[in-house]
Amino acid sequence: MKLGVIREQRDAEKRVSASPETVKKLIGLGFDVHVEAGAGIAASVPDSAFEEAGAKIAPDLASTVGDADVVFSVQGLEGVDAGKAKKGALQLATLNPFVDGDRLKAYADAGLMAIAMEFVPRITRAQSMDVLSSQSNLAGYKAVIDAAEAYGRAFPMMMTAAGTVAPAKVMVMGVGVAGLQAIATAKRLGAIVSATDVRPSTKEQVESLGGKFVMVEDEETAEAETSGGYAKEMSDEYKAKQAKLIADTLAKQDIAITTALIPGRPAPVLITEEMVKSMKPGSVIVDLAVEMGGNCALSKPGEIVEVDGVTIIGHRNVPSRLAADASALYARNLLHFITPHVKEGALEIDFEDEIVTESLVTKDGAIIHPRLTGGDQ
Ligand code: NAI
Repeated sequence: MKLGVIREQRDAEKRVSASPETVKKLIGLGFDVHVEAGAGIAASVPDSAFEEAGAKIAPDLASTVGDADVVFSVQGLEGVDAGKAKKGALQLATLNPFVDGDRLKAYADAGLMAIAMEFVPRITRAQSMDVLSSQSNLAGYKAVIDAAEAYGRAFPMMMTAAGTVAPAKVMVMGVGVAGLQAIATAKRLGAIVSATDVRPSTKEQVESLGGKFVMVEDEETAEAETSGGYAKEMSDEYKAKQAKLIADTLAKQDIAITTALIPGRPAPVLITEEMVKSMKPGSVIVDLAVEMGGNCALSKPGEIVEVDGVTIIGHRNVPSRLAADASALYARNLLHFITPHVKEGALEIDFEDEIVTESLVTKDGAIIHPRLTGGDQ
């Protein structure tokens, strides 16, 4: 039973999908683990650390995935390399399935079984496999640190002999996993924090972290949350009311951290150009939704732009900016996913398990997931 851990292929991806700790446990399950040379270097894990944990170092991609039964990665094999893996091999990765359809087609053509880790259902049993949570939590933290670095003032109030430094005012938009961590981090740094969301259940969570909750509450918000706990797209009427509330609140803020996402849809635009221009010079916006179109109309993926003295940060792949921690948590997510499917040293995938049925996107030469084939959202 061979398991290959590839060196990530996408630009600027610093994470790795295994750690020395998970390699030991995978070997304990009965896997023969092969790690591609240099796979962990950008996440501060040298090849020697994987070797000490019991892995073999493979010189290149072909020898890593060649006859592997399971392939681990963060962002998946590129479509052009799908044929290097063995037919029927299980791929575990975040695959960005709504955007990267061509790659899924290549996987299907190569006969691979691909699990899109972002589709793992958010049920209690799967919490330890939840890559969205493990990575978003770190992104929420890093967004505040990035904001603090770009902000030319301090976050906490300081009373000194030379005068008082006012605390920073931080607004967090979108209170999912990333937003909650952003609130907690900004509070720890001493900021005055407010937050908004469309799901009323977030009010209590914001307040329990010491933040002030602001939101438009009307008959529509009672229906804003799907059964899976996600936000729905709101009506134009709601969006107009929300825009007014945000405009009034934002003009008084120093920092905005935006994290609002709607699964399978472009991110909602919450900060318009006009709102950016209403902010004080020196203010900072960190748009964590930039890769899904952005919550700020002026943010640009992979860029830091300045508009009338307001800095708008649009880093891509924020978890990769904390590659060591992000890798360690992601590696555990994959370990927890695969463990129940190994029985006495043999891979026995339980295709009846809801965690598998909801995350398996290609099998037997086809893209099979209903969210990708025009079925449910
Ligand atoms: P997400 O990344 O999909 O969205 C981030 C936040 O943006 C959400 O809180 C959403 O309501 C908000 N949002 C969307 N449209 C908005 C708009 N127009 N204006 C303002 N805010 C908007 O969410 P994430 O972090 O993936 O969490 C989704 C849900 O899953 C949450 O309810 C979370 O508590 C839950 N969850 C459950 C877990 C479990 O039980 N195993 C694990 C992790 C999360």
